[in-house]
Amino acid sequence: MPELIVTTREGDSRPIEAASGVSVMEAIRDAGFDELLALCGGVCSCATCHVHVDPSCAALLPAMSADEDDLLASSRHRDATSRLSCQIRLDQSLSGLRVTIAEED
Ligand code: FES
Repeated sequence: MPELIVTTREGDSRPIEAASGVSVMEAIRDAGFDELLALCGGVCSCATCHVHVDPSCAALLPAMSADEDDLLASSRHRDATSRLSCQIRLDQSLSGLRVTIAEED
């Protein structure tokens, strides 16, 4: 099972486990982090699943789609580490991924 280390907006970190094939958003939400709203349910149309990925993990991730890039462009909190967590599908190669839930827009 891939492991993910999640940091909240308050700076609390904890590891969670997720099934392969779920998105990072689903893993975070299912682990009970209610500050990740994910209002559109994972169809890349809301940007409320915004996370910052630890730079040490960034190279492991697939490239961002144009839709994801467009949505993130609307966030005041976007930086070079920003991703939409619903667009990252977990598998064992991503185990150990560290993400921080982004500030709310
Ligand atoms: S859950 Fe809406 S864009 Fe990710």
